Amino acid sequence: MAAKRDFSNLTFSLYKNAQEMKMYESYYRGGAWDKGKTVPFHNLELSPAANILNYGQGIFEGMKAYRSVRGNIVMFRPEENAQRFARSCRKMAIPEVPVDKFMDAVRQVVLQNEEFIPDSDDGKYSMYLRPVCIGTEPLLGVRASKEYLFYIFASPVGPYFDKVGIVSLWVTDVHRAAAHGTGDAKAVCNYAVTMRPKIEAQVRGFDEALYLDTVHNKFVEEAGAANFFALMEDETLVTPNLGIILPGITRESIIRLAREVFAMKVVERELSVEEVCSGAKECFLCGTGATITSVREINWQDKTYNVNKNDYQLAHKLYDLLIGIQLEREKDPFGWVTKLD
Ligand SMILES: Cc1ncc(COP(=O)(O)O)c(C=O)c1O
Repeated sequence: MAAKRDFSNLTFSLYKNAQEMKMYESYYRGGAWDKGKTVPFHNLELSPAANILNYGQGIFEGMKAYRSVRGNIVMFRPEENAQRFARSCRKMAIPEVPVDKFMDAVRQVVLQNEEFIPDSDDGKYSMYLRPVCIGTEPLLGVRASKEYLFYIFASPVGPYFDKVGIVSLWVTDVHRAAAHGTGDAKAVCNYAVTMRPKIEAQVRGFDEALYLDTVHNKFVEEAGAANFFALMEDETLVTPNLGIILPGITRESIIRLAREVFAMKVVERELSVEEVCSGAKECFLCGTGATITSVREINWQDKTYNVNKNDYQLAHKLYDLLIGIQLEREKDPFGWVTKLD
């Protein structure tokens, strides 16, 4: 193995020496995907008229590879990302990237960048993988591309939020996605709309925006890149229904852990922001990037509410178990961890 690199003080940003890493690329032309291969990390060459640059026909994924406490290179439920990528393709009229092809590409990128996987330090550090698929055909009229590029690059990363573990949220009037729209796909357009609310949240001194439903402007949906949970006074753990939000793999894993390991009552339902601000005992965000991040307070209609009267106890308990499973410290009761080496 190559000399150890120094990954201390990493944040969630592109690694400064990314050009030393390998990426994967595969092209779709003439109605079929080519075999694909790993190549040095490099800039892409695109026509100024490429579909992705003008009309945003693109999707992506986010996943992490860890070096576990047993010394294995592991990933958490990577087939779920492969399946979600295929669903996102279908939604955005992109030719589907088959699950096997996706998994093979992921394996190649992780193993060929092995020296860039940081020691995990309790889950704080990992190698993040970013699979992307974009329409590359030059065109003028609005229509689906006939040519695509599927690529995966990687970067060693640290925590997603600057403030590790606890954040504050600001409820925005901007709506991220509407019913029967693209919210449940990991489509690039869903993220473009979150740039301004995030800036507005930060200008007001909060870390991230929280989105409400489009119809009533009342029910919590999710944050910019993470799902939302609230523990209510009666000890029920509530999370917003699927439909418009991204069906998070971490969200689904937390529901199962809370129900099946901690024997908690977990309900997926409409959850008004008023109910959260007045009655939640504890709130947290979750996602591949965010893992489990506690929410200290929520600002809604110019008032700030303390949404943690529970000393973050549930988030800590879930975090320890989830990260414990991901790093092979805890038993993996659901067979979620995939060894790559
Ligand atoms: C909008 C959004 N919601 C939720 C999540 C969490 O999904 P997952 O747990 O699959 O990473 C993400 C991605 O991290 C996201 O971008």
